[in-house]
Amino acid sequence: VLESGEWWYGDRVATFEKEFAAFQDAKHCITCTSGTTAAEIAMRALDIGHGDEVIVPPFTFVATASTVAYVGATPIFVDTDESWCMDPTLIEATITPRTKAIMPVHFGGRICDIDAVQAIADKHNLKFIEDACHSWGSKWKGKGTGALGHCGVFSFQASKNLNAGEGGAILTDDDALAERCRSIINCGRSETGPWHHHVNIGTNARLTEFAGALLSAQFSRLEEQNAIRNRNAAILDDGLAGIPGLTPQPGDDRISHRAYHLYCLRFDAAQYGCSRDKFLEAIAAEGIELFPGYAVPLYEQPCFLNSDLPHDYSSDNCPDTAALCAREALCFTQAILLGTEDDMQDIITALTKIQAHAEALAE
Ligand SMILES: Cc1ncc(COP(=O)(O)O)c(C=O)c1O
Repeated sequence: VLESGEWWYGDRVATFEKEFAAFQDAKHCITCTSGTTAAEIAMRALDIGHGDEVIVPPFTFVATASTVAYVGATPIFVDTDESWCMDPTLIEATITPRTKAIMPVHFGGRICDIDAVQAIADKHNLKFIEDACHSWGSKWKGKGTGALGHCGVFSFQASKNLNAGEGGAILTDDDALAERCRSIINCGRSETGPWHHHVNIGTNARLTEFAGALLSAQFSRLEEQNAIRNRNAAILDDGLAGIPGLTPQPGDDRISHRAYHLYCLRFDAAQYGCSRDKFLEAIAAEGIELFPGYAVPLYEQPCFLNSDLPHDYSSDNCPDTAALCAREALCFTQAILLGTEDDMQDIITALTKIQAHAEALAE
């Protein structure tokens, strides 16, 4: 790219878009500068803005909800369930005449209950936007994430399984939506019109050719790396099954392929024998990186509590997410899942050893 002189508008970005759309079974892939921008642009393209509400989960990175507020709409939080994804049985109670969309997260790469969310979206005439920022390669009944709802958004930021440092994409089967997203990302231009002809109020969120080249190179290794992560997740599932108080994030038979961005465990202090804080100190001392997820449910973040959005976030209460944040969530990153089989055995040995001494740790 450097030497070609084509730093933008070359064929690298276009090539990656074709590769990634085909991989996720979507008709269109429109790349942009981040997962955050992808969500903002998707919502703008769907005419979501002031006065509208979008239903999101509270156990996720801030962007799932802040993007809703950034386009002028109000995020409404629906609790997670044992899947770590949005609990579909709680969605309908939060729907109002202002609700425009539901945006669940496929947390850690584990797909949310697509059938249940789609049925609710259809019943109430809502858009279903997938926050697919953890799920490159995950498939529901044979079809890729991002192509399951009306559209889906992806992140290619540095911590992700498929990354270019920064980057994002919107996937959709909807031709008109794809055209609108492409226009908004490119200063509101139309695909065929003159250069200085602007049909939409847009922004500049175009991906550079450098990022496009990086993404295609990374993409060529994605399936092989996903297979290593899956093998290692299976080793952890087996090895941890015998340890009380550690429950891996459950799957779902309708998930025909699960890509792991995180390997998540729910920690039960009563069964394991000590608190999560003590456990985290001990596992760090064993030299193993394990992080406790998000510190608070998103509705407790100052950006929402102190906002002038027309919703009182101080009265929100999502008990499952609150428990995950306060004492239950444990996550291994995707990079750990790229380790060897011996690395996984080391993890199992450490977790078994700590559990054997949990009582002493608790004192
Ligand atoms: C669930 C989720 N949604 C959205 C984003 C935003 O993506 P980006 O960091 O590329 O803006 C992230 C990034 O970590 C994420 O984890």
